Amino acid sequence: MEYKIKSGSPEKQSSGCLVVSISGNNKLSSAAQQLDEACEGYISKLVKRGDLARQTGKTLLIPGLHNVKAQRVLLVYAGKERSMSAVKYTRLLKSCLSALKDCSTKDALFYLDDIHCEKRDLAWKVRHCIETIEDSLYQFTELKSKKGEPAKLARIQFGLDNRSQAAVVETAIAQGQAIGKGKQLTKTLGDLPGNICTPTYLAEQAQQFAKSYKSITTSILEEKQMEELGMGSLLSVSAGSEEPAKLIVINYKGGKKDDAPQVLVGKGVTFDTGGISLKPGAGMDEMKYDMCGAASVFGTLLAVAELNLPINVIGIIAAAENMPNGIATKPGDIVTSLSGKTIEILNTDAEGRLVLCDALTYAEMFNPAAIIDIATLTGACVIALGHHTSAVFSNQNGLAQQIIKAGESSADAAWQLPMGEQYQEQLKSNFADIANIGGRPAGSITAACFLSRFTEGQRWAHLDIAGTAWVSGSNKGATGRPVPLLTQYLLDRVAEQS
Ligand code: BES
Ligand code: MN
Ligand code: ZN
Repeated sequence: MEYKIKSGSPEKQSSGCLVVSISGNNKLSSAAQQLDEACEGYISKLVKRGDLARQTGKTLLIPGLHNVKAQRVLLVYAGKERSMSAVKYTRLLKSCLSALKDCSTKDALFYLDDIHCEKRDLAWKVRHCIETIEDSLYQFTELKSKKGEPAKLARIQFGLDNRSQAAVVETAIAQGQAIGKGKQLTKTLGDLPGNICTPTYLAEQAQQFAKSYKSITTSILEEKQMEELGMGSLLSVSAGSEEPAKLIVINYKGGKKDDAPQVLVGKGVTFDTGGISLKPGAGMDEMKYDMCGAASVFGTLLAVAELNLPINVIGIIAAAENMPNGIATKPGDIVTSLSGKTIEILNTDAEGRLVLCDALTYAEMFNPAAIIDIATLTGACVIALGHHTSAVFSNQNGLAQQIIKAGESSADAAWQLPMGEQYQEQLKSNFADIANIGGRPAGSITAACFLSRFTEGQRWAHLDIAGTAWVSGSNKGATGRPVPLLTQYLLDRVAEQS
Protein backbone atom coordinates (compact mmCIF):
# COMPACT_ATOMS: atom_id res chain seq x y z
CA MET A 1 0.00 0.00 0.00
CA GLU A 2 1.17 3.45 -0.89
CA TYR A 3 0.44 6.41 1.41
CA LYS A 4 0.67 10.09 0.52
CA ILE A 5 -0.48 13.49 1.62
CA LYS A 6 -2.58 15.78 -0.51
CA SER A 7 -3.62 19.40 -0.21
CA GLY A 8 -6.00 21.53 -2.27
CA SER A 9 -9.77 21.71 -2.72
CA PRO A 10 -11.52 18.35 -2.28
CA GLU A 11 -13.79 18.81 -5.31
CA LYS A 12 -10.75 19.14 -7.58
CA GLN A 13 -9.00 15.96 -6.47
CA SER A 14 -8.95 13.07 -8.91
CA SER A 15 -9.47 10.01 -6.77
CA GLY A 16 -11.48 6.80 -6.75
CA CYS A 17 -13.19 7.86 -3.54
CA LEU A 18 -13.13 10.77 -1.11
CA VAL A 19 -13.91 9.94 2.52
CA VAL A 20 -15.55 12.82 4.40
CA SER A 21 -17.47 12.96 7.65
CA ILE A 22 -20.79 14.17 8.98
CA SER A 23 -21.30 14.56 12.70
CA GLY A 24 -23.79 15.77 15.31
CA ASN A 25 -27.03 16.93 13.81
CA ASN A 26 -26.32 17.19 10.05
CA LYS A 27 -22.98 18.91 10.63
CA LEU A 28 -20.80 18.71 7.54
CA SER A 29 -17.02 18.55 8.00
CA SER A 30 -15.10 21.29 6.22
CA ALA A 31 -14.23 18.95 3.33
CA ALA A 32 -17.87 17.80 3.09
CA GLN A 33 -18.92 21.44 3.14
CA GLN A 34 -16.66 22.27 0.20
CA LEU A 35 -17.99 19.33 -1.80
CA ASP A 36 -21.54 20.32 -0.91
CA GLU A 37 -20.98 23.79 -2.32
CA ALA A 38 -19.57 22.33 -5.55
CA CYS A 39 -22.53 20.01 -6.07
CA GLU A 40 -25.07 22.68 -5.15
CA GLY A 41 -26.23 21.24 -1.85
CA TYR A 42 -26.78 17.64 -2.88
CA ILE A 43 -24.85 16.24 0.11
CA SER A 44 -26.71 18.31 2.67
CA LYS A 45 -29.97 17.31 1.00
CA LEU A 46 -29.15 13.61 1.35
CA VAL A 47 -28.01 14.09 4.93
CA LYS A 48 -31.11 16.03 5.95
CA ARG A 49 -33.33 13.45 4.30
CA GLY A 50 -31.74 10.81 6.55
CA ASP A 51 -29.90 8.74 3.92
CA LEU A 52 -26.90 8.43 6.25
CA ALA A 53 -27.79 6.43 9.38
CA ARG A 54 -27.04 8.26 12.63
CA GLN A 55 -24.77 5.67 14.13
CA THR A 56 -21.04 6.19 14.48
CA GLY A 57 -19.24 4.53 11.57
CA LYS A 58 -22.28 4.15 9.27
CA THR A 59 -21.45 5.06 5.69
CA LEU A 60 -23.17 6.25 2.54
CA LEU A 61 -21.52 5.90 -0.87
CA ILE A 62 -22.38 8.56 -3.43
CA PRO A 63 -21.15 7.77 -6.95
CA GLY A 64 -20.55 10.46 -9.58
CA LEU A 65 -21.25 13.62 -7.62
CA HIS A 66 -21.96 16.62 -9.86
CA ASN A 67 -19.00 19.03 -10.20
CA VAL A 68 -16.76 16.77 -8.13
CA LYS A 69 -13.77 15.28 -9.91
CA ALA A 70 -13.47 12.13 -7.76
CA GLN A 71 -15.42 9.09 -8.91
CA ARG A 72 -17.17 8.61 -5.57
CA VAL A 73 -17.69 10.22 -2.20
CA LEU A 74 -18.04 8.14 0.96
CA LEU A 75 -19.86 9.89 3.77
CA VAL A 76 -19.21 8.53 7.24
CA TYR A 77 -21.10 9.41 10.37
CA ALA A 78 -18.65 10.49 13.10
CA GLY A 79 -21.03 10.53 16.04
CA LYS A 80 -23.18 12.89 18.03
CA GLU A 81 -20.54 13.71 20.63
CA ARG A 82 -17.76 16.22 20.14
CA SER A 83 -15.19 13.44 20.04
CA MET A 84 -14.95 9.66 20.16
CA SER A 85 -12.70 7.12 21.89
CA ALA A 86 -9.82 5.41 20.08
CA VAL A 87 -11.84 2.17 20.11
CA LYS A 88 -14.76 3.86 18.30
CA TYR A 89 -12.37 5.57 15.89
CA THR A 90 -10.88 2.18 14.94
CA ARG A 91 -14.38 0.83 14.33
CA LEU A 92 -15.24 3.81 12.17
CA LEU A 93 -12.12 3.25 10.06
CA LYS A 94 -12.91 -0.43 9.65
CA SER A 95 -16.37 0.40 8.48
CA CYS A 96 -14.97 2.88 5.89
CA LEU A 97 -12.49 0.26 4.71
CA SER A 98 -15.16 -2.35 4.19
CA ALA A 99 -17.19 0.16 2.16
CA LEU A 100 -14.08 0.98 0.10
CA LYS A 101 -13.46 -2.72 -0.50
CA ASP A 102 -17.05 -3.25 -1.61
CA CYS A 103 -16.92 -0.54 -4.28
CA SER A 104 -13.57 -1.94 -5.51
CA THR A 105 -11.87 1.43 -5.78
CA LYS A 106 -8.11 1.37 -6.29
CA ASP A 107 -7.45 4.48 -4.24
CA ALA A 108 -9.03 6.69 -1.61
CA LEU A 109 -8.47 10.12 -0.11
CA PHE A 110 -9.29 10.48 3.59
CA TYR A 111 -10.24 13.78 5.22
CA LEU A 112 -9.70 12.95 8.88
CA ASP A 113 -9.38 16.48 10.24
CA ASP A 114 -12.98 16.79 11.41
CA ILE A 115 -13.26 13.31 12.86
CA HIS A 116 -12.47 14.09 16.47
CA CYS A 117 -10.83 11.45 18.58
CA GLU A 118 -10.27 12.10 22.31
CA LYS A 119 -6.86 13.62 23.07
CA ARG A 120 -5.50 12.68 19.64
CA ASP A 121 -4.14 14.97 16.95
CA LEU A 122 -4.16 14.60 13.18
CA ALA A 123 -0.78 12.84 13.13
CA TRP A 124 -2.08 10.21 15.54
CA LYS A 125 -5.25 9.72 13.51
CA VAL A 126 -3.21 9.24 10.33
CA ARG A 127 -0.83 6.79 11.95
CA HIS A 128 -3.65 4.82 13.50
CA CYS A 129 -5.55 4.83 10.21
CA ILE A 130 -2.54 3.23 8.49
CA GLU A 131 -2.19 0.63 11.24
CA THR A 132 -5.88 -0.23 10.82
CA ILE A 133 -5.56 -0.47 7.04
CA GLU A 134 -2.51 -2.73 7.30
CA ASP A 135 -4.38 -4.85 9.87
CA SER A 136 -7.34 -5.27 7.57
CA LEU A 137 -5.11 -6.17 4.63
CA TYR A 138 -3.48 -9.02 6.53
CA GLN A 139 -4.47 -12.46 5.28
CA PHE A 140 -2.88 -15.74 6.22
CA THR A 141 -3.32 -17.67 2.99
CA GLU A 142 0.19 -19.05 2.61
CA LEU A 143 -0.99 -22.54 3.44
CA LYS A 144 -4.20 -22.57 1.41
CA SER A 145 -4.00 -24.07 -2.05
CA LYS A 146 -6.29 -21.31 -3.35
CA LYS A 147 -4.95 -17.89 -2.36
CA GLY A 148 -7.40 -15.08 -1.64
CA GLU A 149 -7.77 -12.29 -4.19
CA PRO A 150 -5.22 -9.54 -3.71
CA ALA A 151 -6.73 -6.31 -2.42
CA LYS A 152 -7.71 -3.79 -5.12
CA LEU A 153 -7.10 -0.84 -2.84
CA ALA A 154 -3.49 0.16 -3.52
CA ARG A 155 -3.16 3.86 -2.66
CA ILE A 156 -4.35 5.94 0.27
CA GLN A 157 -4.03 9.69 0.52
CA PHE A 158 -4.62 11.99 3.45
CA GLY A 159 -6.12 15.38 2.74
CA LEU A 160 -4.60 18.38 4.53
CA ASP A 161 -6.20 21.77 4.57
CA ASN A 162 -3.02 23.27 5.90
CA ARG A 163 0.39 22.63 4.34
CA SER A 164 2.09 23.35 7.67
CA GLN A 165 0.86 19.95 8.89
CA ALA A 166 2.81 18.16 6.15
CA ALA A 167 5.98 17.35 8.11
CA VAL A 168 4.29 15.80 11.14
CA VAL A 169 1.89 13.86 8.95
CA GLU A 170 4.80 12.49 6.87
CA THR A 171 6.39 11.24 10.11
CA ALA A 172 3.07 9.71 11.15
CA ILE A 173 2.85 7.92 7.79
CA ALA A 174 6.34 6.45 8.22
CA GLN A 175 5.53 5.29 11.74
CA GLY A 176 2.16 3.83 10.76
CA GLN A 177 3.75 1.88 7.91
CA ALA A 178 6.61 0.59 10.07
CA ILE A 179 4.30 -0.50 12.90
CA GLY A 180 1.86 -1.98 10.38
CA LYS A 181 4.65 -4.01 8.79
CA GLY A 182 5.94 -5.10 12.20
CA LYS A 183 2.48 -6.27 13.24
CA GLN A 184 2.09 -8.23 10.03
CA LEU A 185 5.33 -10.10 10.65
CA THR A 186 4.27 -10.79 14.23
CA LYS A 187 0.91 -12.11 13.06
CA THR A 188 2.43 -14.31 10.37
CA LEU A 189 4.90 -15.89 12.77
CA GLY A 190 2.09 -16.43 15.28
CA ASP A 191 -0.32 -17.95 12.78
CA LEU A 192 2.25 -20.33 11.31
CA PRO A 193 1.70 -23.85 12.69
CA GLY A 194 4.09 -25.55 15.08
CA ASN A 195 5.32 -27.99 12.45
CA ILE A 196 6.67 -25.10 10.39
CA CYS A 197 7.45 -22.42 12.95
CA THR A 198 10.00 -24.34 15.04
CA PRO A 199 12.89 -22.86 17.04
CA THR A 200 15.08 -23.50 13.98
CA TYR A 201 12.62 -21.58 11.78
CA LEU A 202 12.73 -18.62 14.17
CA ALA A 203 16.53 -18.69 14.09
CA GLU A 204 16.43 -18.60 10.28
CA GLN A 205 14.06 -15.63 10.41
CA ALA A 206 16.55 -13.80 12.60
CA GLN A 207 19.35 -14.52 10.15
CA GLN A 208 17.14 -13.20 7.38
CA PHE A 209 16.80 -9.97 9.37
CA ALA A 210 20.56 -9.55 9.42
CA LYS A 211 20.61 -9.96 5.65
CA SER A 212 17.84 -7.42 5.09
CA TYR A 213 19.09 -4.66 7.41
CA LYS A 214 22.62 -3.32 7.68
CA SER A 215 21.82 -2.09 11.18
CA ILE A 216 21.11 -5.65 12.42
CA THR A 217 23.41 -8.51 13.35
CA THR A 218 22.25 -11.88 14.59
CA SER A 219 23.83 -14.66 16.60
CA ILE A 220 22.36 -18.01 17.57
CA LEU A 221 23.31 -20.13 20.57
CA GLU A 222 22.85 -23.86 19.92
CA GLU A 223 21.99 -26.40 22.62
CA LYS A 224 25.62 -27.41 23.00
CA GLN A 225 26.73 -23.85 23.74
CA MET A 226 23.80 -23.33 26.10
CA GLU A 227 24.84 -26.46 27.95
CA GLU A 228 28.41 -25.20 28.27
CA LEU A 229 27.13 -21.89 29.61
CA GLY A 230 24.93 -23.70 32.13
CA MET A 231 21.41 -22.90 30.88
CA GLY A 232 19.95 -25.95 32.57
CA SER A 233 16.54 -24.35 32.98
CA LEU A 234 15.97 -23.45 29.32
CA LEU A 235 17.28 -26.83 28.18
CA SER A 236 14.94 -28.70 30.55
CA VAL A 237 12.04 -27.48 28.40
CA SER A 238 13.37 -28.78 25.08
CA ALA A 239 14.60 -32.04 26.66
CA GLY A 240 11.53 -33.99 25.53
CA SER A 241 11.45 -32.60 21.99
CA GLU A 242 13.12 -33.61 18.75
CA GLU A 243 13.42 -29.92 17.90
CA PRO A 244 16.59 -28.36 19.30
CA ALA A 245 16.19 -25.19 21.38
CA LYS A 246 17.79 -21.96 20.15
CA LEU A 247 18.75 -18.80 21.96
CA ILE A 248 18.48 -16.10 19.33
CA VAL A 249 20.12 -12.70 19.74
CA ILE A 250 19.16 -9.91 17.33
CA ASN A 251 21.26 -6.80 17.73
CA TYR A 252 19.99 -3.52 16.26
CA LYS A 253 22.57 -0.75 16.38
CA GLY A 254 20.99 2.60 15.66
CA GLY A 255 22.41 4.56 18.59
CA LYS A 256 25.91 5.52 19.61
CA LYS A 257 28.36 2.73 20.21
CA ASP A 258 28.29 3.10 23.99
CA ASP A 259 24.58 3.80 24.47
CA ALA A 260 23.14 1.19 26.82
CA PRO A 261 20.68 -0.96 24.85
CA GLN A 262 17.02 -1.56 25.51
CA VAL A 263 16.70 -5.33 25.69
CA LEU A 264 13.51 -7.15 24.67
CA VAL A 265 13.27 -10.80 25.69
CA GLY A 266 10.59 -12.93 24.01
CA LYS A 267 9.10 -16.26 25.07
CA GLY A 268 9.41 -18.43 21.99
CA VAL A 269 7.76 -21.73 22.91
CA THR A 270 6.84 -22.82 19.40
CA PHE A 271 4.43 -25.40 20.74
CA ASP A 272 3.38 -25.98 24.34
CA THR A 273 1.87 -29.40 24.98
CA GLY A 274 2.51 -28.93 28.69
CA GLY A 275 5.18 -31.66 28.56
CA ILE A 276 4.72 -34.52 31.03
CA SER A 277 2.18 -32.29 32.85
CA LEU A 278 0.23 -32.67 29.61
CA LYS A 279 -2.46 -30.13 28.75
CA PRO A 280 -6.03 -31.25 28.02
CA GLY A 281 -6.70 -31.87 24.32
CA ALA A 282 -9.46 -29.33 23.65
CA GLY A 283 -8.08 -26.18 22.08
CA MET A 284 -4.49 -27.34 22.38
CA ASP A 285 -3.83 -26.21 18.80
CA GLU A 286 -3.80 -22.65 20.15
CA MET A 287 -0.56 -23.41 21.93
CA LYS A 288 1.16 -22.79 18.60
CA TYR A 289 0.70 -19.15 19.69
CA ASP A 290 2.99 -19.68 22.67
CA MET A 291 5.77 -17.95 20.75
CA CYS A 292 3.85 -14.69 20.29
CA GLY A 293 6.13 -12.88 22.76
CA ALA A 294 9.06 -13.79 20.52
CA ALA A 295 7.04 -12.81 17.45
CA SER A 296 6.40 -9.37 18.97
CA VAL A 297 10.14 -8.89 19.49
CA PHE A 298 10.65 -9.64 15.77
CA GLY A 299 7.87 -7.24 14.79
CA THR A 300 9.15 -4.44 17.00
CA LEU A 301 12.71 -4.79 15.73
CA LEU A 302 11.38 -4.69 12.18
CA ALA A 303 9.52 -1.44 12.93
CA VAL A 304 12.60 0.05 14.63
CA ALA A 305 14.87 -0.92 11.72
CA GLU A 306 12.39 0.44 9.16
CA LEU A 307 12.33 3.76 11.01
CA ASN A 308 16.09 3.78 11.49
CA LEU A 309 15.62 4.86 15.11
CA PRO A 310 18.75 6.30 16.77
CA ILE A 311 18.75 3.83 19.65
CA ASN A 312 20.35 0.47 20.45
CA VAL A 313 17.91 -2.41 20.86
CA ILE A 314 18.70 -6.06 21.48
CA GLY A 315 16.11 -8.79 20.98
CA ILE A 316 16.68 -12.08 22.77
CA ILE A 317 14.44 -15.00 21.92
CA ALA A 318 14.26 -18.10 24.03
CA ALA A 319 12.98 -20.66 21.54
CA ALA A 320 12.02 -24.21 22.49
CA GLU A 321 9.28 -26.77 21.97
CA ASN A 322 7.64 -28.27 25.06
CA MET A 323 6.95 -31.97 24.40
CA PRO A 324 6.65 -35.16 26.45
CA ASN A 325 8.83 -38.15 25.60
CA GLY A 326 10.97 -40.74 27.39
CA ILE A 327 13.69 -38.26 28.26
CA ALA A 328 11.44 -35.28 28.94
CA THR A 329 11.71 -33.36 32.19
CA LYS A 330 9.46 -34.82 34.91
CA PRO A 331 7.58 -33.12 37.76
CA GLY A 332 9.94 -33.04 40.72
CA ASP A 333 13.09 -32.77 38.60
CA ILE A 334 15.57 -30.18 39.80
CA VAL A 335 17.68 -28.17 37.35
CA THR A 336 20.37 -25.52 37.70
CA SER A 337 19.77 -22.24 35.89
CA LEU A 338 22.38 -20.00 34.28
CA SER A 339 22.22 -17.77 37.37
CA GLY A 340 23.31 -20.72 39.52
CA LYS A 341 19.94 -20.89 41.28
CA THR A 342 18.37 -24.35 41.41
CA ILE A 343 14.74 -24.83 40.36
CA GLU A 344 12.33 -27.60 41.36
CA ILE A 345 10.06 -28.17 38.36
CA LEU A 346 6.79 -29.10 40.00
CA ASN A 347 4.82 -28.64 36.80
CA THR A 348 6.37 -28.99 33.34
CA ASP A 349 3.55 -26.85 31.92
CA ALA A 350 4.99 -23.80 33.70
CA GLU A 351 7.75 -23.83 31.07
CA GLY A 352 7.66 -20.21 29.90
CA ARG A 353 9.38 -18.95 33.05
CA LEU A 354 11.96 -21.74 32.69
CA VAL A 355 13.07 -20.60 29.25
CA LEU A 356 12.81 -16.93 30.17
CA CYS A 357 14.86 -17.02 33.38
CA ASP A 358 17.99 -18.14 31.55
CA ALA A 359 17.42 -15.62 28.76
CA LEU A 360 16.99 -12.87 31.38
CA THR A 361 20.24 -13.80 33.09
CA TYR A 362 21.93 -13.82 29.69
CA ALA A 363 20.50 -10.33 28.99
CA GLU A 364 22.47 -8.84 31.90
CA MET A 365 25.62 -9.34 29.86
CA PHE A 366 24.60 -6.44 27.60
CA ASN A 367 24.50 -3.87 30.46
CA PRO A 368 20.99 -2.88 29.43
CA ALA A 369 19.23 0.43 30.07
CA ALA A 370 16.15 -1.72 30.69
CA ILE A 371 15.01 -5.29 30.10
CA ILE A 372 11.44 -6.00 29.05
CA ASP A 373 10.25 -9.55 28.57
CA ILE A 374 7.12 -10.38 26.62
CA ALA A 375 5.38 -13.72 27.12
CA THR A 376 2.14 -15.63 26.77
CA LEU A 377 2.92 -16.72 30.28
CA THR A 378 -0.22 -17.62 32.23
CA GLY A 379 -3.82 -18.67 31.68
CA ALA A 380 -4.50 -16.79 34.93
CA CYS A 381 -3.74 -13.51 33.15
CA VAL A 382 -6.63 -14.14 30.76
CA ILE A 383 -8.89 -14.61 33.78
CA ALA A 384 -7.62 -11.40 35.42
CA LEU A 385 -7.64 -8.99 32.46
CA GLY A 386 -9.46 -10.77 29.64
CA HIS A 387 -8.55 -10.11 26.04
CA HIS A 388 -8.25 -6.32 25.91
CA THR A 389 -5.36 -5.44 28.20
CA SER A 390 -1.88 -6.89 28.65
CA ALA A 391 -0.48 -7.20 32.19
CA VAL A 392 2.65 -5.30 33.24
CA PHE A 393 4.86 -6.19 36.18
CA SER A 394 8.04 -4.40 37.13
CA ASN A 395 10.63 -4.05 39.85
CA GLN A 396 10.76 -0.30 38.99
CA ASN A 397 7.54 1.65 39.09
CA GLY A 398 8.91 4.25 36.70
CA LEU A 399 9.47 1.63 34.02
CA ALA A 400 5.96 0.23 34.49
CA GLN A 401 4.59 3.78 34.06
CA GLN A 402 6.58 4.30 30.86
CA ILE A 403 5.12 1.08 29.46
CA ILE A 404 1.55 1.92 30.46
CA LYS A 405 1.92 5.37 28.90
CA ALA A 406 3.26 3.86 25.66
CA GLY A 407 0.26 1.51 25.66
CA GLU A 408 -2.15 4.41 26.07
CA SER A 409 -0.65 6.51 23.33
CA SER A 410 -0.47 3.61 20.89
CA ALA A 411 -3.97 2.32 21.76
CA ASP A 412 -2.42 -1.01 22.80
CA ALA A 413 -3.45 -1.07 26.44
CA ALA A 414 -1.49 -2.49 29.36
CA TRP A 415 -2.23 -2.40 33.08
CA GLN A 416 0.01 -2.95 36.07
CA LEU A 417 -0.51 -5.80 38.53
CA PRO A 418 1.27 -5.89 41.91
CA MET A 419 4.29 -8.00 42.75
CA GLY A 420 4.64 -7.63 46.54
CA GLU A 421 7.12 -9.72 48.50
CA GLN A 422 4.40 -11.77 50.24
CA TYR A 423 3.68 -13.46 46.92
CA GLN A 424 7.29 -14.67 46.73
CA GLU A 425 6.58 -17.09 49.59
CA GLN A 426 4.34 -19.15 47.33
CA LEU A 427 7.45 -20.14 45.33
CA LYS A 428 9.16 -21.87 48.25
CA SER A 429 10.65 -25.29 47.48
CA ASN A 430 11.65 -27.91 50.04
CA PHE A 431 14.41 -29.25 47.84
CA ALA A 432 15.70 -26.44 45.61
CA ASP A 433 16.20 -22.66 45.73
CA ILE A 434 12.84 -21.99 44.12
CA ALA A 435 9.81 -23.89 42.77
CA ASN A 436 8.48 -23.15 39.30
CA ILE A 437 4.84 -22.84 40.39
CA GLY A 438 3.13 -20.96 43.21
CA GLY A 439 -0.28 -22.61 43.38
CA ARG A 440 -3.60 -21.36 42.01
CA PRO A 441 -4.00 -17.97 43.76
CA ALA A 442 -2.53 -15.05 41.79
CA GLY A 443 -1.01 -17.30 39.15
CA SER A 444 0.16 -14.42 36.93
CA ILE A 445 1.75 -12.62 39.86
CA THR A 446 3.70 -15.61 41.12
CA ALA A 447 4.92 -16.23 37.56
CA ALA A 448 6.20 -12.63 37.49
CA CYS A 449 7.72 -13.15 40.96
CA PHE A 450 9.59 -16.16 39.63
CA LEU A 451 11.09 -14.02 36.84
CA SER A 452 11.95 -11.24 39.30
CA ARG A 453 14.33 -13.63 41.05
CA PHE A 454 16.45 -13.64 37.91
CA THR A 455 16.48 -9.88 37.30
CA GLU A 456 17.61 -8.59 40.69
CA GLY A 457 19.57 -5.36 40.28
CA GLN A 458 18.23 -4.81 36.75
CA ARG A 459 15.68 -2.29 35.52
CA TRP A 460 13.18 -4.91 34.42
CA ALA A 461 9.54 -5.29 33.38
CA HIS A 462 7.45 -8.25 32.28
CA LEU A 463 4.47 -8.16 29.93
CA ASP A 464 2.02 -11.08 30.13
CA ILE A 465 0.23 -11.13 26.77
CA ALA A 466 -1.62 -14.44 27.20
CA GLY A 467 -4.98 -12.72 26.67
CA THR A 468 -4.02 -10.21 23.98
CA ALA A 469 -1.66 -11.96 21.55
CA TRP A 470 -4.34 -13.81 19.60
CA VAL A 471 -8.10 -14.21 19.32
CA SER A 472 -9.91 -17.55 19.43
CA GLY A 473 -13.13 -18.65 17.78
CA SER A 474 -14.22 -18.20 14.17
CA ASN A 475 -11.82 -15.29 13.68
CA LYS A 476 -8.91 -17.18 15.17
CA GLY A 477 -5.66 -15.39 14.49
CA ALA A 478 -2.73 -13.50 15.96
CA THR A 479 -3.30 -9.81 16.76
CA GLY A 480 0.22 -8.42 16.34
CA ARG A 481 0.12 -7.04 19.88
CA PRO A 482 2.04 -5.59 21.68
CA VAL A 483 4.12 -4.31 18.74
CA PRO A 484 2.47 -0.84 18.83
CA LEU A 485 3.15 -0.53 22.57
CA LEU A 486 6.77 -1.65 22.35
CA THR A 487 7.54 0.53 19.33
CA GLN A 488 5.97 3.51 21.08
CA TYR A 489 8.01 2.79 24.20
CA LEU A 490 11.17 2.93 22.08
CA LEU A 491 10.01 6.06 20.21
CA ASP A 492 9.47 7.69 23.62
CA ARG A 493 13.04 6.77 24.67
CA VAL A 494 14.36 8.33 21.46
CA ALA A 495 12.34 11.50 22.11
CA GLU A 496 13.76 11.61 25.65
CA GLN A 497 17.33 11.60 24.32
CA SER A 498 16.95 14.71 22.21
N1 BES B 1 1.48 -21.01 27.60
C1 BES B 1 0.82 -21.26 28.81
C2 BES B 1 -0.06 -20.09 29.26
C3 BES B 1 -1.32 -19.88 28.48
C4 BES B 1 -2.41 -20.72 28.64
C5 BES B 1 -1.44 -18.79 27.65
C6 BES B 1 -3.57 -20.48 27.94
C7 BES B 1 -2.61 -18.54 26.97
C8 BES B 1 -3.68 -19.39 27.12
C9 BES B 1 1.82 -21.52 29.93
O1 BES B 1 2.98 -22.17 29.54
C10 BES B 1 1.15 -22.40 30.93
O2 BES B 1 0.83 -23.51 30.58
N2 BES B 1 0.92 -21.89 32.12
C11 BES B 1 0.26 -22.61 33.14
C12 BES B 1 0.99 -22.35 34.43
C13 BES B 1 0.55 -23.24 35.55
C14 BES B 1 0.96 -24.67 35.29
C15 BES B 1 1.17 -22.73 36.83
C16 BES B 1 -1.18 -22.11 33.19
O3 BES B 1 -1.41 -20.91 33.03
O4 BES B 1 -2.06 -22.94 33.38
MN1 MN C 1 2.77 -24.28 29.56
ZN1 ZN D 1 3.54 -21.93 27.60
